[in-house]
Amino acid sequence: MKTQVGIIGGGPSGLLLSQLLHRRGIDSVVLEKHTRAHVLARIRAGVLEQGFADLLRLAGCGDRMDREGEVHEGVNIAHGEDLHRVDLHGLTGGRTVMVYGQTELTRDLYEARDAMGGVVIHEAEDVQPHDLTSDAPYLTYRQGDELHRVECDFVVGADGFHGVSRKSIPADVLTEYEKVYPFGWLGVLSRTEPVAPELIYARHERGFALCSLRSRVLSRYYIQVPLTDRPGDWSDEAFWAELKRRLPSDVGRRLQTGPSIEKSIAPLRSFVAEPMRYGRLFLAGDAAHIVPPTGAKGLNSAGSDIQYLYHALLDHYERGDDSGLDSYSQKALARIWKAQRFSWWMTSMLHVFPDSPAYDRRLQETELDYLFSSEAGLRSLAENYVGLPY
Ligand code: APR
Ligand code: PHB
Repeated sequence: MKTQVGIIGGGPSGLLLSQLLHRRGIDSVVLEKHTRAHVLARIRAGVLEQGFADLLRLAGCGDRMDREGEVHEGVNIAHGEDLHRVDLHGLTGGRTVMVYGQTELTRDLYEARDAMGGVVIHEAEDVQPHDLTSDAPYLTYRQGDELHRVECDFVVGADGFHGVSRKSIPADVLTEYEKVYPFGWLGVLSRTEPVAPELIYARHERGFALCSLRSRVLSRYYIQVPLTDRPGDWSDEAFWAELKRRLPSDVGRRLQTGPSIEKSIAPLRSFVAEPMRYGRLFLAGDAAHIVPPTGAKGLNSAGSDIQYLYHALLDHYERGDDSGLDSYSQKALARIWKAQRFSWWMTSMLHVFPDSPAYDRRLQETELDYLFSSEAGLRSLAENYVGLPY
C-alpha cells in the first residue's frame, strides 16, 4: 500500500490529523493496534480549549460538540471553606472552554473518517517504522499471519505514551524529561446531576478533589489518593464521603450521590521527549508528552501538535515549503513546555504532598491567597486555562 502520510495510532491525535489532511486532498493511512470498541471504551478528560474546538470544526467534526457540549465561561477553585470563581471569559477578553468528553469526540472523529472513506486499519499488530532517515520511509504491520507494508512520504507517531514511535528514535538523539508525583487520582463517573454548573478544583488538607461533568445528568469526580490504593479499596460510599469532606460544606451538602458507572485510579506524571522529529518521523500527542490532569492540558497539548503539523504538511504539499516541517519540533515544544509548566503549577498548588515540610505547606496556602487577591494572578491562570495562542 502507498500513501502520503502514514499515521501510527488511532487516538484523537492520529484521527484528527488524518481527517484534516483528507479535507485538503492529502492521503493518509492510520494504523491502530486495538479495535475501535477498545479505543472508544476509554474514559478520559473533557475540557477543550477554544483553539482545539476550532480545530475540530475545521476538521468538519464540530457539529455534535456544538450541539451537545457546554461552553464554560468560568471555573471555580475551592480552598477549605472558600470558593472562588475564576471568570475565564472576563479575564481573557471573551475566551471560553468547551466541556465535551474525549470519548464522544473520538467517536465523532471515527464517524467523520468513515463518512469520507478514510483508511483506518484496526488490530494492526507489530507496527514498525523503517528507513526514517531516508526519503522513502515505510511502515510494516501484521494482521493475523499476513505481513503488510505501507510506503509513505512521512510517518506520524501518534501512538500514545506506550507506542512504538518514540522508541524508534535512537537513544543518543532523544532526551526524556520526567517527573512522577507521589499520588494518583481516583475517578468516578456517575449518572447524577453535577454538583455545580462549572468545574470546581478543590485544595483541602485531606487532599485534592475535582468536580467535573460530562452533561447535565453525568458527573465526573476525582479525589487525590495514595499510589498504593486500588479502586477496589474504595466502595462508592467511601468515595462520596471522602469527596464531600474535601469540598466547602455548602457544596458538599448539595452533592448528589449514586452508583459509580466507572471507577479507576490514574497516576500523575509529567513527561516530555525531545526532539519531536527524527528524519521523516514526527511525534504528536501522548507519544511525546504527558501532563498531570490538573490543568486539563492532555488532549489540548495533543491538539496544538496537530495544529502545527497539519499546517506544516499543508505547506509542504501545497507550496513545496518545508519550513514548517523543519521548525515543527521547536515550535510544538515551546507550547508544550508552557502547558507542562501550567499543569505542574496547578498540581503543586492544589495537592497535598506527603511528608512536605510545614514551610512548603504555608507557601502553598500563600500561593492561593495571592491568587485570589491579585487580578494579574487570576488573569495568568485564566489565559493558560483557556489555552495560549498557537
Ligand atoms: N501501534 C499502533 N497503534 C498503537 C500502538 C502501536 N504500537 N501503540 C499504541 N497505539 C494506539 C493506542 O491503542 C491508541 O489508540 O495509539 C493510540 C494513541 O492514543 P492516545 O493514547 O489517546 O494518544 P493521543 O491520540 O495522542 O491522544 C491525546 O492526550 O492526555 C491525553 O487523554 C488524552 O488520550 C488523550 C491524549
Ligand atoms: C474531567 O472531566 O475528566 C477532567 C476535567 C478537568 C481536569 C481533569 C479532568 O483538569
